[in-house]
Amino acid sequence: MSVIRAVPAGVGSYLPARIMENDELAKTLDTTHDWIVERTGIHRRHIAADGEMTSDLAFHAAQRALDMAGMGIGEIDLIVVATATPDQTFPSTATRVQNHLRMHHGFAFDVQAVCSGFVYALSVATQFIETGKARAAIVIGAETFSRILDWSDRATCVLFGDGAGAVVLKGEAGTGTTEDRGILSTELRSDGAHNAALYVDGGPSTTGMAGHLRMNGREVFKHAVRNLAEIGEAALTTAKLMPADVQWVVPHQANARIIASTAQKIGVEMDRVIVTVQDHANTSAASIPLALDVAVRDGRIRRGDLLLLEAMGGGFTWGAAAVRW
Ligand code: ACO
Repeated sequence: MSVIRAVPAGVGSYLPARIMENDELAKTLDTTHDWIVERTGIHRRHIAADGEMTSDLAFHAAQRALDMAGMGIGEIDLIVVATATPDQTFPSTATRVQNHLRMHHGFAFDVQAVCSGFVYALSVATQFIETGKARAAIVIGAETFSRILDWSDRATCVLFGDGAGAVVLKGEAGTGTTEDRGILSTELRSDGAHNAALYVDGGPSTTGMAGHLRMNGREVFKHAVRNLAEIGEAALTTAKLMPADVQWVVPHQANARIIASTAQKIGVEMDRVIVTVQDHANTSAASIPLALDVAVRDGRIRRGDLLLLEAMGGGFTWGAAAVRW
């Protein structure tokens, strides 16, 4: 049976130039490099410069993904930006990226699912491509979490960083089997009962201010492994695949312990898991496409490899995708 698949044509990422090592945080906070590494696996993170916005990070990542795809902006019909740290309350960051890319046709919008944002955005873009409503799309995860951190709260500010990653998806004819390249399945979940475990204490209709990230880390941890394993397995089952078929798991990069426990629960060895949390920290919606870009460019992920993407974030939201690269 002939179907349209949303096929990855290119990937790109961008990290702000400034690197903040754990030791720098230990100068102003009651924390240590060893504590951060032991609990999270994080060594350093990138921090956006003054005046450097989420749309700037997203633009650079998108341009690099387009370059890898060898495609011009005229071939793109849709831009979806996953972000919880938009430049402005409105318009969307996606329309700002669209303008940076000098794209004046098609349509662009943001998706808000915090750390699961990239998987949500990938799923949304895939629907538009599979139904023929868009020939090709740029799916971007971009964040400047440094702007919503309480830099006096050691329990949260050590965990996050800034960055962006992007994937170009192109509609191509497939056979409808698991041998096709492209997004083979996506599964999305949310449960708004968990707002208090991870939220920002501000917003346009509450305080009128952007606010700061607040988190009950233990509560998030408790749900993370169970939800991530469940959704990862669901995405594989929907695609009629098994954990043994997976060449690479590309997880949301929140915490090395969550990544390892989830991989174990799904039944994938750590040597098949892409881990970048040590260098990027948690970049929320940007973390999966950033990790993808690292592993594609260093040659680990190759054309035709079967990938499992999985993420969980505030809401709670969670999601996974089975992708043949
Ligand atoms: N440095 C030193 N001590 C610290 C720090 C720090 N940076 N932060 C907290 N502590 C202290 C706490 O105050 C506490 O001290 P106490 O025992 O005297 O009260 C102690 O360390 C233990 O605190 P816990 O919060 O219980 O530590 P835990 O082992 O749970 O680790 C962490 C905390 C790393 C936040 C962990 O709970 C975690 O990773 N949770 C998941 C959160 C997450 O990943 N969120 C990202 C967004 S959601 C997502 O992306 C999946």
